[in-house]
Amino acid sequence: MRSLVIIILTCLVTVWSTPSLAELRVVGKGETLRFDSSQFPPEIKRSYDVMAVRCSTCHSQHRIVMAYITGVAPVSKKPFDNDVMKITTFRMLRKAGLTLPEGLSKEQRKVIIEERRAIASVLNYLMDESTR
Ligand code: HEC
Repeated sequence: MRSLVIIILTCLVTVWSTPSLAELRVVGKGETLRFDSSQFPPEIKRSYDVMAVRCSTCHSQHRIVMAYITGVAPVSKKPFDNDVMKITTFRMLRKAGLTLPEGLSKEQRKVIIEERRAIASVLNYLMDESTR
């Protein structure tokens, strides 16, 4: 009887803790497709808001969402793994003007470094959540 209870409990825990794929929730469609930010813990949500501003000036968030939910980078068609994510992040941070040229004040550098960090933390978080 006791071992039966243990087996049942083990099964329940396994079912509860097995994450389903494509766990990230999205809202909108087409050009308005974006992540549902209500699913994020508060600090990721704050960083996500930074990303939403910085990364939506040239293209919508559709590109970012598709990379994570399909596992394929939408333009280059490369498998969107950790390496491609890091290289893309680096390229896009530059495109977004988040670089550190000579001559910036200490305060300006600080703001840019914080924004870069915030965006990188969201992109890493999304990768962790999408491949769990
Ligand atoms: C100055 C314009 C511009 C900004 C700002 C910008 N992007 Fe892009 N993004 C592009 C262009 C152009 C492409 C397609 C060419 C390329 O991949 O370089 C692209 C492609 C992408 C792709 C698909 C890459 C692939 O290989 O398929 C992702 C993902 C992406 N951007 C994410 C971001 C993120 C995250 C940010 C914010 C840090 C951002 N973008 C900011 C212009 C921009």
